Amino acid sequence: MNAFRLTRTLPADATAAALRGDVLHGLTSTPKTLPPTWFYDARGSEIFEAITQIPEYPVWRAELGLLRQHAEAIALRTGARTLIELGSGAYSAKTRHLLDALTGLHAYVPVDVCESALRQAGQALIVERPGLTVHALVADFTSVLALPDTPGPKLLAFLGSTIGNFLPAERAAFLSCLSALLSPGDALLLGADLVKDEAALVAAYDDPAGLTSDFNKNVLRVINSRLDADFDPDAFEHVALFDTAHEWIEMRLRSLVDQTVKIRALDLAVDFSAGEDLCTEISAKFRREGLAAELAAAGLELAHWFTGPGQEYGLALAVPRRPGADRPPAGRSTACVS
Ligand code: SAH
Ligand code: AVI
Repeated sequence: MNAFRLTRTLPADATAAALRGDVLHGLTSTPKTLPPTWFYDARGSEIFEAITQIPEYPVWRAELGLLRQHAEAIALRTGARTLIELGSGAYSAKTRHLLDALTGLHAYVPVDVCESALRQAGQALIVERPGLTVHALVADFTSVLALPDTPGPKLLAFLGSTIGNFLPAERAAFLSCLSALLSPGDALLLGADLVKDEAALVAAYDDPAGLTSDFNKNVLRVINSRLDADFDPDAFEHVALFDTAHEWIEMRLRSLVDQTVKIRALDLAVDFSAGEDLCTEISAKFRREGLAAELAAAGLELAHWFTGPGQEYGLALAVPRRPGADRPPAGRSTACVS
């Protein structure tokens, strides 16, 4: 029997409150910043899907290739009966490879802030996978994750290199939260875009067709519609640069003119001077050793590393460290575990 269930784990007004808080804090800080979560309304998710298909953006294709090649090995190693996918987005060929390979799978739990993407995924799965229980969660994966009670072993997938969109300290806390969600026998599958040629990296975030620019400016449209603001997206320029010290791409929106933007729902007026940047996203690029160390600090052991010949992208399969193995220092946040 096929079952699709969609649960909002947060009250409907919690997302609105989080947006208000992020916009108020981010646009009154110096420099101005916004978290990347707010790119993804229905339109933002569609633009992201289009970006994944352009030749300049290799991230999605590289991960697809690795999953096509190694999904069976991942399935054999994990024997997962529940697949939880954080930031799952639209149902894609990547997830399909995992679902095909996990022959003993009982439940699929996609988790995303974008309800339309989850509904689209659910509709596709109902047709394709009779017998699979699909329990979609509209949730913020940085908040308390109340996961449904489904059978183990569990495979927690965080794909697309979305881990790169966290700042390092946030990333450490987040990985610790993921680690705390895992029991012995469970595993984490983490996709990570790797450090590579700078020109290729920048091109991936500044495509000539302007899709990434449109994606970047979508955050302004989201604030306009949800917080009754009057951002003019044409009064900002899309900027993508590589920060070599941090090894991350930074996406910004640069004000083309001196301007004041009104955000009526917050009773806020925000001044931008010409040339001033609003930082909208970082996209960190990784190295295997660094990622293994970050996983270890979160109490996870890198059990297997899948990469292609060009070392463009890595898929880390990590498991909870065995009891008795050296523990990382105490004091890690477990706030996002329920
Ligand atoms: N995993 C897919 C999509 C990656 S895009 C892929 O690899 O192609 C990032 C996804 O994370 C989007 O679907 C976005 O809606 C979701 N997302 C971003 N911030 C989130 C948050 N804080 N909580 C839950 N989902 C989030
Ligand atoms: C979802 N995330 C990993 C993408 C990235 O590459 O950082 C989002 C994105 N931003 C611009 N292009 C794609």
